[in-house]
Amino acid sequence: MTESKETGGLKRTLSALNLTTLGIGAMIGAGIFVLTGQAAAQYAGPAIVLSFVVSGLACGFAGLCYAEFASMIPIAGSAYTYSYATLGEFFAWIIGWDLILEYLFAASTVSVGWSGYVVSFLKDFNINLPPQFTDATGTILVNIPELGWKPLNAFAHSLAESGVSIDSLPHVTCVLNLPAMFIVALLSALLVIGIKESANFNNIMVITKVSVIILFIALGFMFVKSANWHPFIPPNKVESTPISEYGSFWEWLKAYGSEFGKYGISGILRGAGVIFFAYIGFDAVSTAAQEAKNPQKDMPVGILGSLSISTVLYILVAIVLTGIVSYKTLNVADSVAVGVDAMGEGMFWLRPIVKLAAIAGLSSVILVMLLGQPRIFFTMSKDGLLPPVFSKVHPRFKTPYVSTIITGVVAMIIAGILPIRILGELVSIGTLLAFIIVCLSVLILRKTKPEIERPFRTPWVPVIPVLGALICFIQMAALPLDTWLRLLVWMSIGFCIYFFYGIRHSKVRSENGKDK
Ligand code: ALA
Repeated sequence: MTESKETGGLKRTLSALNLTTLGIGAMIGAGIFVLTGQAAAQYAGPAIVLSFVVSGLACGFAGLCYAEFASMIPIAGSAYTYSYATLGEFFAWIIGWDLILEYLFAASTVSVGWSGYVVSFLKDFNINLPPQFTDATGTILVNIPELGWKPLNAFAHSLAESGVSIDSLPHVTCVLNLPAMFIVALLSALLVIGIKESANFNNIMVITKVSVIILFIALGFMFVKSANWHPFIPPNKVESTPISEYGSFWEWLKAYGSEFGKYGISGILRGAGVIFFAYIGFDAVSTAAQEAKNPQKDMPVGILGSLSISTVLYILVAIVLTGIVSYKTLNVADSVAVGVDAMGEGMFWLRPIVKLAAIAGLSSVILVMLLGQPRIFFTMSKDGLLPPVFSKVHPRFKTPYVSTIITGVVAMIIAGILPIRILGELVSIGTLLAFIIVCLSVLILRKTKPEIERPFRTPWVPVIPVLGALICFIQMAALPLDTWLRLLVWMSIGFCIYFFYGIRHSKVRSENGKDK
C-alpha cells in the first residue's frame, strides 16, 4: 500500500504530543469557562466536583474503547469507521450523521461562547460592538446599568423582582452573531491551508489556556475559604425529607420529579449531564488518524493522555472556584472571572488574562471541531455514502479542502442564527449516542472478530464498555424532551439522505454487486 493510498492523500505529520495537545485543544473550552459555574449554582453546589468525577468516569470508559478502536483501525472517520467495521454500513451512516451533531454543531456552539467572551473582553477596554450583531437572530438584548447588554430572557425575572420596567431600558433585537461567524470563517481558512499550521496554532492556544488555568488554580488555593464548601452537597428538599412524610410512594415520586436535579444526589447527576460538554473532544483525536506518524501507538496516548490531563485540571478548577466564592454567585457566563474578582483588588490584573485564556481555549476547541468534521465527511465520501467532492484533497495544501469549506460555511450560518442552549444540548445528546455505540462496538467486535490484532486493548471487557454505555445513557436520559425530539428529527433527515443517496452510491454495495 503506498503512502498516499494509505492516507488518501493526507500528510502524516502529527506526533503523540501533537495528538495529546489536539485532544486538550478540543476539550478545555466552554465547559470549564462557561458551564461549570452555572451548573454549580443551579444544580450541584460545591459537589460539582463530584459531577466532574461521574462524567469523567463515563468518558474514561468510553475513552478506553475509543483507544482500542483507534489503534486497531487508524482511519480518519472516528466512531463512523468503527461502527462500519462492526455493525455495517447502515449503522455506520447513522453514526456518521450523528457525529455532525458533535463536531459541526459543537464548533458553532463554542463560537457563540467565543463571541460572548470577546464582546466582554473588548468592553473592558471600552470597545463596544453594535449589540444587534452579537447574538442569535431574534434574541432581545437589554442594556442593564452596570452590566451592559444582556439577553432579556435570562434577566427578565430579576429585573421584574427589582421593580425595573423593561420598557424603560434600551433594548434591541439581534440580527446575527457576527463575531461567532467571523471566528468560524477565520479558523476554516487556517484549516484549508494546512494540518501542520493548524496543529501549531492549536499548540499555542493550548499552552496559553493550560498555563492560565494552572495559574488560577495555584493562586486560587490561597484565597479559598473552607466555609464556602459547607455544605458540600447542598440538600435536595425531597431527598432530605423522609418518604413517610409524603403519604404514599407516588406522592413522593411526584415531589421528587419536580425537585430532581436541584442539589442533593440528583443535582450531582444533572450537573454531570451538563458539564459532560466539557469532556467532549478527546475523541476528536481519532479523526486525525490518517495524519498521525505512528497511529497504532500514538492514538491511545493522545486520547487517554488528553482526557487524563483535562480531567485533573477540571476537578482542581471546580475545587478552587467553589472554595473562593459561594456557588450561589456563579450563575454567570464568565464564572472564572467572578472567581478572580473575589480574590480581591490586588488580583485584578488576572482578570483580562483569564478572559484571554478563555478566548484562546475556545478558539482551539472550534479549530479541532472544524478539523474533525471534514475528516469524517472525507471517510464517508471515500465509502461512497457522500458525493466524491467531500474527499477532494487540495493539490498543494494536502487538506480535504472542499469538505472543510462546506463544514465552515454551514457551521458559520448555524453560529450566526441559533442560541447556545439549543446547540449545546444537541451536541451533548449526539456525542453521548456516539460514545454508547463505540462502547457497544468494542464488545461486539471482540466476539465477532477476536483474531484482529489490537495494539491497545480496553481492560476489563465487558465491564468497562458496559459501564461506559450505561453511564452515558443515564446522562442522555437526563436531557430535556425537546432535545430528544430534535435528535429524532435530525436522524430522520439522515435516514432520508441515506435511502435517496448513500444506498445507491455505496462502494461496498457496488463491489458486492460486481462480485455476484
Ligand atoms: N469540551 C469542549 C468545550 O468545553 C466542547 O468547549
